[in-house]
Amino acid sequence: MARSFPAALPAALSGANLHLSYGTHEVVHGVDLDLTRGCVTALIGPNGSGKSTVLRSLARLHRAETGAVSLEDVEDVMTLHPKAFARRVTMLSQSRPTPGGVTVRDVVGFGRHPYRGRFRTSDPDGPRAIEHALDITGVSEMAGRGVDELSGGELQRVWLATCLAQDTEVLLLDEPTNHLDLRYQMDLLDLVRDLATEHRVAIGVVLHDLNHAATVADRVVLLQHGGVRAVGTPGEVLTTELLSEVYGIHVDVHAHPVSQRPVCEPRSRHAAARQPAPLVPHHAQLGRIPAEHAQPAAV
Ligand SMILES: Nc1ncnc2c1ncn2[C@@H]1O[C@H](COP(=O)(O)OP(=O)(O)OP(=O)(O)O)[C@@H](O)[C@H]1O
Ligand SMILES: [Mg+2]
Repeated sequence: MARSFPAALPAALSGANLHLSYGTHEVVHGVDLDLTRGCVTALIGPNGSGKSTVLRSLARLHRAETGAVSLEDVEDVMTLHPKAFARRVTMLSQSRPTPGGVTVRDVVGFGRHPYRGRFRTSDPDGPRAIEHALDITGVSEMAGRGVDELSGGELQRVWLATCLAQDTEVLLLDEPTNHLDLRYQMDLLDLVRDLATEHRVAIGVVLHDLNHAATVADRVVLLQHGGVRAVGTPGEVLTTELLSEVYGIHVDVHAHPVSQRPVCEPRSRHAAARQPAPLVPHHAQLGRIPAEHAQPAAV
């Protein structure tokens, strides 16, 4: 069932007219993006279209040449103390160095840094938040292990737990399903949905899998060449025309028979060249009825 996007709600975190560069090379050209409490906004687009750079600027990790990032009650987030900002916004980056010599629990505990005083005495909610984050990401059992001995998917879940332990109103996730097996991909999408719906978190998530975007997002922002090519509900943005044009490959889109959400199937060169197999009823293949009844109807 399609979720309606409550457009009237004020944005929890907004980027306005963001121009972002590396050195003198501008790669994002005037992007506007609002993240609203209770909503999942998926950023999609080809490699190099600017998704990570935009997300990083929302997380205050990349300073905008022009434009500003604001919270509901703070016009320019750059004016906030780093700890005050970190109590409100957290980001799971696309790539991170793995720290050596620390346990999973230690790393998840890093998420509590904005709540800790200099002598680590002023965070009464810390232990509960850490246990909860370990639990909902399924890493409790490995809490005592060193992070440098984990698989890629296990590590990804630990980083996610670290973000969750930070307990913020805005969560930015850059390709969070990377390295995860099927079950944990679905768990992650469910968790993202729950955080938005039940805890009113504003979520911005970069996804490459368009079907993941269709599954979890209330709103989809399609980036191309450092600009917003389209924004709207999954049904509005995930169309054959738009996706085929932006990705430069034919993408079939049809409505899921039950949920009606868009299902996207990029067509490979080989699949396009293959003829469809003749339609033979399954019971005929098993030889239970005479073969003449099993022939496809003549056209
Ligand atoms: N550290 C950097 N120095 C210089 N240019 C960079 C740097 N990081 C990214 N870029 C360039 O900025 C543009 C946007 O990159 P960005 O990482 O935001 O894209 P993306 O949409 O996240 O891509 P991907 O899907 O591959 O993660 C690209 O042209 C990229 O080459
Ligand atoms: Mg990226």
